Amino acid sequence: MYFDPRPKVRREDLYDREKELEQFSNALPYASLIVITGLRRTGKTSFLNVALAEANHPYAILDLRGLPYNPSHADIVRRLEGAFNKINRKWFSGLSEMLRHLKGVSILGNMVSFDWSKRGVDLPELFGKVDAWASKNKKRFLMAFDEIQLVRGDKGIPRLFAHIVDSYRNLTLVVTGSEIGLLFDFLGFENAGSPLYGRHFVQIQMGNFSASAAEKFLTLGFQQVGLAAPSEVIHYAVQNLDGVVGWLTLFGARCRDKHSCSKEMVDDVVSEGGRLAREEALKLTVMSRRYGIILNFLAKVGSASWGEIKGVIEAKEKHSVTNSAVSNLLNTLVKVGLVEKVNGKYGIVDALLVNGIRQEALPE
Ligand SMILES: Nc1ncnc2c1ncn2[C@@H]1O[C@H](COP(=O)(O)OP(=O)(O)OP(=O)(O)O)[C@@H](O)[C@H]1O
Ligand SMILES: [Mg+2]
Repeated sequence: MYFDPRPKVRREDLYDREKELEQFSNALPYASLIVITGLRRTGKTSFLNVALAEANHPYAILDLRGLPYNPSHADIVRRLEGAFNKINRKWFSGLSEMLRHLKGVSILGNMVSFDWSKRGVDLPELFGKVDAWASKNKKRFLMAFDEIQLVRGDKGIPRLFAHIVDSYRNLTLVVTGSEIGLLFDFLGFENAGSPLYGRHFVQIQMGNFSASAAEKFLTLGFQQVGLAAPSEVIHYAVQNLDGVVGWLTLFGARCRDKHSCSKEMVDDVVSEGGRLAREEALKLTVMSRRYGIILNFLAKVGSASWGEIKGVIEAKEKHSVTNSAVSNLLNTLVKVGLVEKVNGKYGIVDALLVNGIRQEALPE
């Protein structure tokens, strides 16, 4: 059912994404690193779940949400243990047999337990064993990290990733991230000093649905739940929800719960989406109030040139700012996916964020 608000796990519940699923399966035989990118609520977790389930290879998914800002080795190992214990039972016994004699690993019945102290399980060694097991079984082991950008500060994880990418032929790392720029910062794709610099990766982008795809999604979704939605409400939803699958789904789920749908319900989802998007943007304003100044201005005027943006910051602060400071701010906004440059002008990518800021301006 399309209107189930939880992340999807089965292909029949996943609308579209055929091209992306094909891209994923084509990459599997050779790629060491697959990166799934997209803004908030664009369906990254759902896509990851379905792509892995369809792959016919053993896999483990590590959900990184809820980890502290700078997670410790122990935090990561504990999450890893959880992920290994959810591996499909079809593979689990063979794999756990292989891991049995590893330092810091104990097998208790059909559960594996990792010693997370510093002298406990050695991660490169662990993945080495997993690689050997996959090779023996003529499979690839897919190790997925959902929301990788939540691991910040520590270089241990990127170093481990680089080691895996360089050394193990039968392991594929699959990572997702909301904040595109942070993902790049985390994995260091543009940073020569980063452990992962220069590694080849395949990127799969979760785009927004086109208006016609969004309309079809809603129409089919309403059919599945046996609800007759007026076409003008569907049109209104398509226009206002910007093809973001998460918001389309939430709208559909609310209609299902209420057994009716209306334009007001679309408006509610728009403001909710706006609030979530605004919260993401708020994280940036903690670093510099200038992000607030720029985003508030862009939300008000739609789009603006570099010079106009510089002028607004100066007017607000009542002193001049350097060109490089303005460029750095704008580059960061583009990198994190909040702002795009079209025909020489900067504008906010996400219509829901524009709405959220218009409802409540960011602190400046
Ligand atoms: N292709 C799809 N077909 C149907 N529903 C989908 C699809 N992709 C995502 N959804 C729905 O959209 C919502 C958001 O999906 P999901 O959690 O996978 O996105 P996300 O990008 O991981 O979100 P977040 O940024 O919050 O982590 C969920 O309700 C999910 O069920
Ligand atoms: Mg997610």
